[in-house]
Amino acid sequence: MSESGSIIYTDGVTVSFDGFKALQAVDFYVDHGELRALIGPNGAGKTTLLDVICGKVKPDSGRVVFGEATELHQLEEHDITMMGIGRKFQTPSVFKNMTLFDNLSLATRHERGVFANLFSTLNRSQRDTIMSTLNTLGLEDKAYEQAGVLSHGQMQWLEIGMVLVQDPTLFLLDEPVAGMTREEREKTSALLQWLAKDHAVLVVEHDMEFVRQTADRVTVLHEGQVLCEGSVEHVKSDPRVVEVYLGRG
Ligand SMILES: Nc1ncnc2c1ncn2[C@@H]1O[C@H](COP(=O)(O)OP(=O)(O)O)[C@@H](O)[C@H]1O
Ligand SMILES: [Mg+2]
Repeated sequence: MSESGSIIYTDGVTVSFDGFKALQAVDFYVDHGELRALIGPNGAGKTTLLDVICGKVKPDSGRVVFGEATELHQLEEHDITMMGIGRKFQTPSVFKNMTLFDNLSLATRHERGVFANLFSTLNRSQRDTIMSTLNTLGLEDKAYEQAGVLSHGQMQWLEIGMVLVQDPTLFLLDEPVAGMTREEREKTSALLQWLAKDHAVLVVEHDMEFVRQTADRVTVLHEGQVLCEGSVEHVKSDPRVVEVYLGRG
C-alpha cells in the first residue's frame, strides 16, 4: 500500500442502497501510472466503486481523495470529469450517424465545457489530437465514415477514444472487452497497456485471460469488501479467491 504514490484512494468508503451495503468500508488506491484490474463476482460492488470515484454515487461515509488532496466525494460528477477522471461507460455514447471524426470532435469540445457545436472550427492541435487518437485506435482509415459501420469491437475503441481525447489523468473502464472476439480482446489489452504509459488506468473485467495479459495488479472485491490484492498469480493462488470467484467456473 503506497498512499504517497497513489493518484487516488478511498478511505473507508461505504455505500448502501436501501439498507443493503454495496460497499463496506473500502480502502482502495491506484498508483500513478498503474494499470489496475478490479475483479469479483457479480454484485461484488465493482461498478459501484467506479460510480463513487466518478461521483455518480455519493458514499454514505468515507472519503475519496484524488491527487494531492482533492476530496472528490464533495464534488459533482461534472467537476470530477473536469479534474481529469474519464470513464468509459458500458452504455454507448457514440452517435452512429456521425463520422468517427465528428464523434471525437464532440468529445474534444466536451472537455472544454463549451456547448457542443459541430460547426465551429477546431484548431490545428485539436485536429491533430483527433487524428493521432484514431491512429492509436487503428481506425484512421475510417475517420470520415459514419460510426454506424463499425463492428462491436471497433465501436468500443471509438468509445475509449472519446475519453482519451479529453486526456484524463485517471481512466476508468467497466468491462470493456465484453462481447469482443479474442483478437479484439488482445488488441484492447495492447491499447490499455499503451494508455497506461501516461495515464493511470482502472479496469473492471471478468475475463481472467484478459486480466492476466493486461494488468500490473489486481484487486478482488467480494460482497462490497476488498478480499485480496496483488499480482494476478498472487490472487489466483489465494484459496478465498478460488472459493468465491474462480472456482465457480
Ligand atoms: N442503484 C442501485 N440501487 C439498488 N441497488 C443497487 C444499485 N446499484 C447497485 N446495486 C446493488 O449493489 C450491489 C453491487 O452492485 P454492482 O456494483 O453493480 O456490482 P458489480 O459491478 O460488482 O457486479 C448489487 O447487489 C446490486 O444489486
Ligand atoms: Mg458491474
